[in-house]
Order: sequence, then structure tokens, then C-alpha cells
Amino acid sequence: MGAEAPGVPDGARREIRRRYTAADVGVFTRDEASRFVSSGDGDPQHDMVLAWELLYRLEPELYDRLVSAERLHPGVVDWLPAGVDRIAEVGAGTGRLTMELIERGQRIVAVEPALPLRRILRRKLAAADHGDRVMVKRGFFDELPLPDDFAGLVVACSAFTPAPGHGGEAGLAEMERVCAPGGCVAIVWPNHVDWLAARGYRYVSFPGPMAVEFGSRHEAVELAEIFFPEAADEVRQRGSRKVPFEVLGINPPRDLAFKVLAG
Ligand SMILES: C[S@@+](CC[C@H](N)C(=O)[O-])C[C@H]1O[C@@H](n2cnc3c(N)ncnc32)[C@H](O)[C@@H]1O
Repeated sequence: MGAEAPGVPDGARREIRRRYTAADVGVFTRDEASRFVSSGDGDPQHDMVLAWELLYRLEPELYDRLVSAERLHPGVVDWLPAGVDRIAEVGAGTGRLTMELIERGQRIVAVEPALPLRRILRRKLAAADHGDRVMVKRGFFDELPLPDDFAGLVVACSAFTPAPGHGGEAGLAEMERVCAPGGCVAIVWPNHVDWLAARGYRYVSFPGPMAVEFGSRHEAVELAEIFFPEAADEVRQRGSRKVPFEVLGINPPRDLAFKVLAG
């Protein structure tokens, strides 16, 4: 996901835009509309980023099935600091990274604007060991509901972009504000590495083959038709629930950009 969503294949852009209309935009709260709708004409058929925001709110379970299949490279999770007193995650979604953070911090605050995604995340946490270490809060990159110097690790996964509605300068400044001196701000699966590098962020990537692991062969085809339509025929022919990321035309979630703040 990104302002220009460089990781999303062209076919998927068309397909996802087709799912919703301008009438659906009424689902946004005022705070959400001011960030997600203000820049365009408010028609998701012309705005792929807006269409993704509608997906989170109108078909959250469909979205969760997709991200549950797109697992992070284990090297990314292992790289993140462990034994941290407090962790803040922004744009937590349905918890792809959050569930991994439970074992790395004593207390985790997961900030997520979309109510339907917060509900799914809370459901997963209720079923997880030590899920009570995570507090789920509503909020946005540019207005984090957290005090200065709150956390030793402040992290976002597949959520931050340089666009003001999805982070931008104000969002990065907020992440750094809530990060304690000596702590780490990390952007996992970044899609604007140069923009982050210009702001002092270093880059790490972990090698090895990676595949999207759908729940079944049937689900692989079903979700490919929606999210990766240009690859759907090949997914059908392969007949496997595991599909290499390159077949789907997206870069794998194998990297991160980070900055350690002065102590
Ligand atoms: C592609 S999803 C990734 C979710 C989750 N981090 C993951 O990796 O599965 C992008 C997430 O960013 C959230 N988001 C979008 N705009 C945001 C903003 N301005 N502030 C905070 N979160 C935002 C969305 O609601 C969504 O949960």
C-alpha cells in the first residue's frame, strides 16, 4: 500500500478501483475523510489509494485473508529490538506485525484508524497468549495518541508513505516524537526508500525465496482474481496454495528502513 502504491500491479489497481463507488465514501469518519478524500475528487474509481481505504472498511475480512497470506520475512521480525519495555505500532491493521510484537515488548500500543480492522485485531488478540499486553487505539500517523518519548520501538508495517494522508513529514515527525531517546523508529516493507534515506533512515533487506501462502489452492485463485488479476491464470495452472511473490508481480515483505534516535 502506498500513495502511488508502487508495489501494486496495474491489473490490481484497476480491479480494486472497480469494487467501490463515490457513494461508498460516506463510510469515512470526518477525520478519515479529511486525510483520505481531500486530495482527489472522492471517486475510488479514479483513486486506488482511496479504494484500498474503502476495502479496509467495507470488506475487512477479505483484506485480512490477503494479508494473512502475505507473511513477513522472519529476518524482519528477528531484526526488530527485543525485550523492549514499550512498543508503539502505527497503522497496525489486522495485526500482521502486531502479533509478532507481543513477544518483543512488555506493553504494546497498536494504533489503527479503521474501526473494522481494529475489531479484527482485538478478536485475534483475545485468542492469543499474552494478547492482553497489546492495547489497540484509534489514531493517525500525524496525530498519535501517545506522549513524547513513549516507546523504545516505534514501528509501521506496509502503512507509512510520504503522502500527508498516510504519514508524510508530519507523520514521521510524530513517530520520532513518541520514540524515546536511543530508541528505534522502523518502517517495515517501505515503498519510498529514497525519501526515508534523505531523512536519515538506513535500509536493511533479507534474502531468500518468498511465497504468498494462501489458505488453500482455491483461495489462491479466488484472491489472485481480485488482487493480482494478471497472474490469476498462472496461479490456476500452478494449482498450489503457495505462490512466489514474483509471480504475483509484487516485491516481497523482506525489508525495512530504520533510524536510531540520539540517546
Ligand atoms: C496495507 S495496511 C497494513 C496493515 C498492517 N500494518 C499490516 O502490515 O498488515 C495499511 C494500514 O495503514 C492504515 N492507515 C492508513 N492511513 C493511515 C494514517 N493516516 N495513520 C495511521 N494508519 C493509517 C490503514 O488503516 C491500514 O491498516
